[in-house]
Amino acid sequence: EKESSFHNSPDTDYAQAEARQAIQAAFQTVRQNLGKTYLPIINGEPVNTLHFDHSVNPCNPSEIIGQVGQATVEQAEQAIQAAQAAFPGWKNTPATERATILRRAADLMEQKRPELVAWMVLEVGKVVEEADPEVSEAIDFCRYYADEMERLDRGYTRNFPGETNHYFYQPRGLAVVISPWNFPFAIPTGMTVAALVAGNCTILKPAAPSAVIAAKLAEILQEAGMPPGVFQYLPGPGSQVGSYLINHPAVHLIAFTGSQSVGCRIIEEAAKLRPGQKHIKRVIAEMGGKNAIIIDESADLDQAVAGVVHSAFGYSGQKCSACSRVIVLEPVYATFVERLIEATKSINVGVAEEPGSGMGPVVSESAQKTIQAYIAKGQEECSLALEMPSPRPGYFIGPVIFTDVAPTATIAQEEIFGPVLAVIKAENFQHALEIANGTNYALTGGLYSRTPSHIAQAQAKFEVGNLYINRGITGAIVDRQPFGGFKLSGIGSKAGGQDYLLQFLEPRVVTENV
Ligand code: NAD
Ligand code: ALA
Repeated sequence: EKESSFHNSPDTDYAQAEARQAIQAAFQTVRQNLGKTYLPIINGEPVNTLHFDHSVNPCNPSEIIGQVGQATVEQAEQAIQAAQAAFPGWKNTPATERATILRRAADLMEQKRPELVAWMVLEVGKVVEEADPEVSEAIDFCRYYADEMERLDRGYTRNFPGETNHYFYQPRGLAVVISPWNFPFAIPTGMTVAALVAGNCTILKPAAPSAVIAAKLAEILQEAGMPPGVFQYLPGPGSQVGSYLINHPAVHLIAFTGSQSVGCRIIEEAAKLRPGQKHIKRVIAEMGGKNAIIIDESADLDQAVAGVVHSAFGYSGQKCSACSRVIVLEPVYATFVERLIEATKSINVGVAEEPGSGMGPVVSESAQKTIQAYIAKGQEECSLALEMPSPRPGYFIGPVIFTDVAPTATIAQEEIFGPVLAVIKAENFQHALEIANGTNYALTGGLYSRTPSHIAQAQAKFEVGNLYINRGITGAIVDRQPFGGFKLSGIGSKAGGQDYLLQFLEPRVVTENV
């Protein structure tokens, strides 16, 4: 058992009138600032671009959140050169000074919390109660990695008569962070500050649908004191700017979170030695999931229904951790399905900003079309038990539940990344575990059970990075539940855990004959 002195930042309690007033005021402030221009930041300065991408509110796509300047590959090259120039100074900056900048960034995030929540709600359609914990997580990442870097920086010595040995870490060099849109603040923050505090000069290429929120992170890091060239913000198309960065021979480290297909392509490309490259690139790739919750015959069905509904439909199922399969043992199948459908019907699908909305839209028109295609495929293969209506305009899709789904059906195998839940019947607990493990992914999983032998078997045999017993399967908390998967879900060690920073560092040993 590890004692931890780390304290997580608490989420806002919106039962308090003051908190509700603060978020309403933040929406007003943010609305007055919609439609502004955000430029790439290279060597500490904004740089002009020829092309702009309009980031829009998925609840109302005619509302432009910001116009984001799209960097070119020539500007990506400038960013790389600026990072190379800044590296010797940043490498030699004491770890505790780097950690202090992260702690200042965390304090700024605390101060700006209501505005950051409002930006997230408007840019990616997350409801307030889902966006607020992301600010907490980002704050936690800053403070946790600051502490971790100070711990690792101490290194250790092993002395023997006539010999000293000193084990210590140095930064890898130039890091590229490529982030997804679905945790638009916490995930880019986590990967970026980990790379920075370890002493790497870092270029952040955010996902297009959340590039304005990433610009808010860039503003915070600059305000906290990141020197020019050390941190750079480089929005642009993944297939051009992202690809240029990952292929570049000067890049030492790539921290990627996103889809399995892009992640695998990055791993493949990064493995190739380019002319002039004198090192092997390190790739951290956190990818998708096809997460399952098992409900056995001893489960508390009140708990199970609530946990499944929240895990499947929170943020419209657009979490890598979301539940997209629920595997129910035959004796409780009919009762569970009936209660699941009734509970899902009570979700209030609405405009993310409005108090009382439990679920907002999906992030974009292309996401909406992809999910609708999966729903059509599901209707061919399985039995449609619930399809809730979608408010208009906006990229809404109401919750959808398919029942009696075959474990091999397309909707039970592929990551849909939307509010679509496949319910699968299992003959017994072994069968349930086989079905749960029968995909390419291993990210999160859950079990609702009051049978100790089932809980023990799940711990041993349920192949997931994060297993949750008798609770929902989303919302990992830094330090308490370090997060990440294996199989085709990822090759990084867990974010928010004590192994994470090691990936951003090179260990060295110096032995002296004395
Ligand atoms: P995505 O893979 O489409 O994009 C992720 C990032 O990669 C974006 O910034 C994009 O611009 C960039 N990109 C795209 N093509 C590229 C290329 N050829 N070279 C370099 N960069 C490129 O993913 P997304 O739609 O933004 O996010 C959703 C996915 O992320 C889901 O699969 C989800 O499961 C996964 N995810 C995983 C975790 C985790 O911790 N395991 C967390 C959040 C999201
Ligand atoms: N860390 C996020 C969660 O646990 C992905 O939901």
